[in-house]
Amino acid sequence: MKNINLVTSIPGPKAKEIIARRTAATPAGLAKSTEIVVEKAQGALVWDVDGNQLLDFAGGIGMLNLGHRPEAVVQAIHKQADQYLHSCALVTTFEPYVELAELLNKVTPGDFPKKTLLAGSGSEAVENAVQIARYYTKRPAVICFEGGYHGRTHLTLSLTSKYGLFKKGFGSMSSDIYRLPVPNLYRIPAGMTEDEYLHFSIQQLENALIAQVDPEALAAILIEPVLGEAGFIPVPPLFLQKIREICTRTGAIMIADEVQCGSGRTGRFCAIEHSGVIPDMVVLAKSMGAGMPISATIGRAEIMDAVHLGGVGGTYGGSPVAAVAAIEAVKQLSSPAFLSQSTRFGEKIEALMAPWVSKYPCVGDVRGMGAMRLVEFVKDKKTKEPDPGIALEIIKEAVSNGIILIRAGLYSNCIRLLPPIVMTDDQLEEGLSVLENAIANKSFAAV
Ligand SMILES: Cc1ncc(COP(=O)(O)O)c(C=O)c1O
Repeated sequence: MKNINLVTSIPGPKAKEIIARRTAATPAGLAKSTEIVVEKAQGALVWDVDGNQLLDFAGGIGMLNLGHRPEAVVQAIHKQADQYLHSCALVTTFEPYVELAELLNKVTPGDFPKKTLLAGSGSEAVENAVQIARYYTKRPAVICFEGGYHGRTHLTLSLTSKYGLFKKGFGSMSSDIYRLPVPNLYRIPAGMTEDEYLHFSIQQLENALIAQVDPEALAAILIEPVLGEAGFIPVPPLFLQKIREICTRTGAIMIADEVQCGSGRTGRFCAIEHSGVIPDMVVLAKSMGAGMPISATIGRAEIMDAVHLGGVGGTYGGSPVAAVAAIEAVKQLSSPAFLSQSTRFGEKIEALMAPWVSKYPCVGDVRGMGAMRLVEFVKDKKTKEPDPGIALEIIKEAVSNGIILIRAGLYSNCIRLLPPIVMTDDQLEEGLSVLENAIANKSFAAV
């Protein structure tokens, strides 16, 4: 192995000690997909506290499109830290906030005047988008989709799907939320063609405006253009076009949650650009900060300006240190060179993974868009019964052999790949061979 170098088992002795302290000091509900304890990281490489060198295929759940510690980002953080750390946008003006907003207004889809509100996490930015849409339209209702993940604040948790993992036990959720199915082309109902299924899904969307929600009460439709947590499900362009049409017709706001699929992950700065559909608002977080906690709600100026003076903002939103990092990150993430690397990188992953469907009985599907790729595991290729157990076992084996991975999927039966897009071909091939070996071992052991 050229890039992976293991000197202990994972976790090694030092890692075990720190994990035991984590268990004692932090709540049991704070999950972790691996037993890796990080000491340092650079690009696609991570070193743990026991001296093991690993390859990162999780990228902090899509936070590291530019890899660990991109040079320009780190330099900008150092420079800003030497000037001032924060003064709060509700108290003073600082240029990094303004410059980042100008940049995001420019690089997001839509040739109309835009404004940007910054916050600290993806959840906050989604919540801001929905609340601003409600304020502007003076309407309460929001349509969201099955499998969607939008965060863990009370409102965004209400918008999030997947009950057992995310919502169970947390009491009643926000009202005025309507959740509809989104077409998943891997799970077309028996007896339907792809075309029929797509048209049926679109019809269900229209039908919801009769059966579930008054179109005159509809404030927004919120969708991830490629569903992340649900299992990298690219939403068909026709479905996105229908959402756009309904929003235009009813006066509702179309919000694209690009927290996971945006920031250049799919070969465009925003994934929705592949469809040609222009949303009214875009939400970004994760990779736009290259590891710093920062997020953005970007929208048509007249919508963003609707809220009364003092109605939005927070103590940390657009923190200067995070904002300068994001300025450098967004400049790179939106550059033609990065976007074509993302496309090429995605094609390379696809070419390496595509044969797995016919080679391994447990691999039901490999899919995704650009460099956002995933493997779905099933007990039976015909029935497509999800196999969350084998996905977990494969992750355990692959991690113990030096790659960092995380699951996904409404049924927790998928492994998602969100490696740094700056990963070299050599690193990609080595990492995927580790994953493939784990799939082969578990696959044939299971038959
Ligand atoms: C699509 C999407 N929206 C919103 C969020 C919430 O972001 P955060 O965890 O930064 O609050 C996530 C996080 O995974 C996400 O994937």
